[in-house]
Amino acid sequence: LHSLPLLGRGKVRDNYAVGDDKLLIVTTDRLSAFDVIMGEPIPDKGRVLNQMANFWFEKLGHIVPNHLTGVAPETVVAPDEAAQIAGRAVVVKRLKPILIEAVVRGYLAGSGWKDYQASGAVCGVKLPAGLRNAEKLPEPIFTPAAKAEFGEHDENISFDEAAERVGKEVAERIRALSIQLYREASDYAATRGIIIADTKFEFGLDDDGELVLMDEVLTADSSRFWPADGYRVGENPPSFDKQFVRDWLETQTWNKTAPAPRLPDDVVAR
Ligand code: C5P
Repeated sequence: LHSLPLLGRGKVRDNYAVGDDKLLIVTTDRLSAFDVIMGEPIPDKGRVLNQMANFWFEKLGHIVPNHLTGVAPETVVAPDEAAQIAGRAVVVKRLKPILIEAVVRGYLAGSGWKDYQASGAVCGVKLPAGLRNAEKLPEPIFTPAAKAEFGEHDENISFDEAAERVGKEVAERIRALSIQLYREASDYAATRGIIIADTKFEFGLDDDGELVLMDEVLTADSSRFWPADGYRVGENPPSFDKQFVRDWLETQTWNKTAPAPRLPDDVVAR
């Protein structure tokens, strides 16, 4: 886009300034997992993610305010750029980001499963003994992660560490809101045959110091979605998200100077 100042490119999203108090976020088709941006975009991925996030922002809006402004994205760019951003952009409030990732887990997967195997706990939350891979937890748990600088892995931290970073009151409120958002979303998804195994929320503070839900919400990049009818405790479920990319990357070694990796055709076909 040439009509707005570019503030920065994330791994998947590009952010442009709209005046002093708003941003245009464009969700690109880039595919990223861990700290790697893959060499090949997925056509229309950005549109699908943006629609998923907008769906959930609306559905969950009664729980916590979100960053959407309602300003139509095509009205803030030059007319010849409207097609380029169609369906993949939102105009949002500029917020002060809170530097923790608010992860909620209803099932044991990913780093939750790894941490549980190593210590019987995830982010300091002690869990019952004998749980298996992909097992449903007795209650959803809040397992924050520290947002890392670009190129570093995020690190799971305890609630107390999160409270040290952002203040106890804010951390408690984020925990309560995140669990409420997860519960309501997973109840809804269950009516559609989908298990939301886990997900990540991000919050910011507005000028009045109010917590606002931001970034992406319950997309296939920020969540694990399992088909209820393909789910077996103890097995890696088929996952309607980017888990296959993480699984493949974990079998690879790469370094930052190497060209971006491309998924082999047989992995894509799965
Ligand atoms: O990898 P891990 O098991 O810690 O991820 C837990 C959940 O948080 C997953 O749904 C994942 O998609 C999400 N997550 C994320 N961004 C990160 C880390 C985790 O969206 N940087």
